[in-house]
Amino acid sequence: MRKFRSQEWFGGKDRDGFMHRSWMKNRGLPHDSFDGRPVIGICNTFSELTPCNSHFRELAEKVKIGVWQAGGLPLEFPVMSLGETNLRPTAMLFRNLASMDVEESIRANPIDAVVLMTGCDKTTPALLMGAASCDLPTIVLSGGPMLSGRFRGRTLGSGTDVWKMSEDVRGGAMSEEEFFAAEAGMHRSAGHCMTMGTASTMATMMEALGMALPSNAAIPAADSHRNTLAQMTGRRIVKMAHEDLRPSAILTREAFENAIRVNGAVGGSTNAVLHLLAIAGRVGVDIALDDWDRCGRDIPCLVDLMPSGRFLMEDFHYAGGVPAVIAELGDRLDRDALTVTGRSLGENYRDAPCWNRDVIRRFDNPVRDHGGIAVLRGNLAPQGAVLKPSAASPELMRHRGPAVVFEDIEDYKARIDHPDLNVTPQSVLVLKNCGPRGYPGMAEVGNMALPRKLLEAGVRDMVRISDARMSGTAYGTVVLHVAPEAAAGGPLALVRSGDMIALDVEARTLELEVDANELKRRRASWSPPSPPFEGGYQQLYIDHVQQADRGVDLDFLVGCRGAAVPRENH
Ligand code: FES
Repeated sequence: MRKFRSQEWFGGKDRDGFMHRSWMKNRGLPHDSFDGRPVIGICNTFSELTPCNSHFRELAEKVKIGVWQAGGLPLEFPVMSLGETNLRPTAMLFRNLASMDVEESIRANPIDAVVLMTGCDKTTPALLMGAASCDLPTIVLSGGPMLSGRFRGRTLGSGTDVWKMSEDVRGGAMSEEEFFAAEAGMHRSAGHCMTMGTASTMATMMEALGMALPSNAAIPAADSHRNTLAQMTGRRIVKMAHEDLRPSAILTREAFENAIRVNGAVGGSTNAVLHLLAIAGRVGVDIALDDWDRCGRDIPCLVDLMPSGRFLMEDFHYAGGVPAVIAELGDRLDRDALTVTGRSLGENYRDAPCWNRDVIRRFDNPVRDHGGIAVLRGNLAPQGAVLKPSAASPELMRHRGPAVVFEDIEDYKARIDHPDLNVTPQSVLVLKNCGPRGYPGMAEVGNMALPRKLLEAGVRDMVRISDARMSGTAYGTVVLHVAPEAAAGGPLALVRSGDMIALDVEARTLELEVDANELKRRRASWSPPSPPFEGGYQQLYIDHVQQADRGVDLDFLVGCRGAAVPRENH
């Protein structure tokens, strides 16, 4: 049997060994709990302030059963939880902070392998980023999506129908009484958003990367199979500890390319671009923004899920879930990529069945021809920007129009519904200073709501451009993640109302049609906006955050630092 690192704590016959074991025995653990078996850390993001993860106490108990069954010692520990709907100014500001918590908690403790309990959007990348920087055997267990929303005879999807209904209220097509009544119908069970938003996308990415057991992404949180999967995950991580199967062996370039292709096939969230770039940075895999376009460009959207389509994660699970999608992609994926099962992706998913071809289409009969993420470049985004074609309006994919500029989110909120706002359906809405440094934290405000007067006239989409992100549950012809951001002095900072902007998604271009000399003049008089926060973690973040094309990680967190700790604590 391997000698595990936890024996550096629990294996000693001296004073330090006594101290490490004795305090742990206050829970009634028998002496043979420290006999050299692997200690499995269960990294739990439970919080009542993170409703998507609020069932994690019970789920962790199921993981522990599996760990005991396989001969490990399970020890649960909490880390910072990130609730998308409650955290201000945006949960993304804290993704990197949570990753630090995870990394240091794993390294500093007598842990040999770890189960990452993930759910709400940022909890998945934060936990994997932190664990990847330690590189101990790691497996991901998602909490699962909520049951489908139901309201007065119709299906409601998390987020997606909030955006739709709020625009209907603003445009006069829905009453406020109906709007409030829908609140209780949208979220009916434990779990995370049940559209193919960021949480479902990231859970899907965990399967596609090979970091979670098959079917992890789509089993609903309320389904008994989720508890079974938790037990199986507990059993498997013990074996992974014995095999010393680490993220560095699984998270290869091929694994990331597989994940990018699967993201296209499921019509996944633009947020996955940032998170996968950041995870790749932790393991030293050189995945770039352009890899998203290169790998995803020819992948059609096979899954008919909101926000781009009709169904929800519960339907996706019943149809076969991610295994059916991976099977359908066939040799378009690298089937030799290693996974947490110890087998290859091809071995895991070869015969995965599909039970409903309305939900998961065949490759030659897709929901949309292009499911991937378009990476745009031009003088407005020299380091790139992204757009999700499957969520955009076909008639706006090639568009030229005058900019209507909002200097920041407060300016936008103050003027967007003003009757005198000089805006038409051909205008291009431009929002500045909502990027990593500018907001700070790169908020999900890029799918800014349209002007009330245009909504009332029946307009439902316009070209929008910003350095912000967009909720994975949202839709529209929205150019996001413009890099460099305005607050870092990117060309976005120089745009003025009335400037013509040309978007051509097919050509992958985004151009500001302003003379270079005029832009030079504007730059000479530009100064960075004052940060909305000073001091504390926010200051650290603003000083060290990288731009969107690098995954928005803090520069000093990039890379794998391993799990060795050379000094004792006494
Ligand atoms: Fe948590 Fe959507 S709010 S997953």
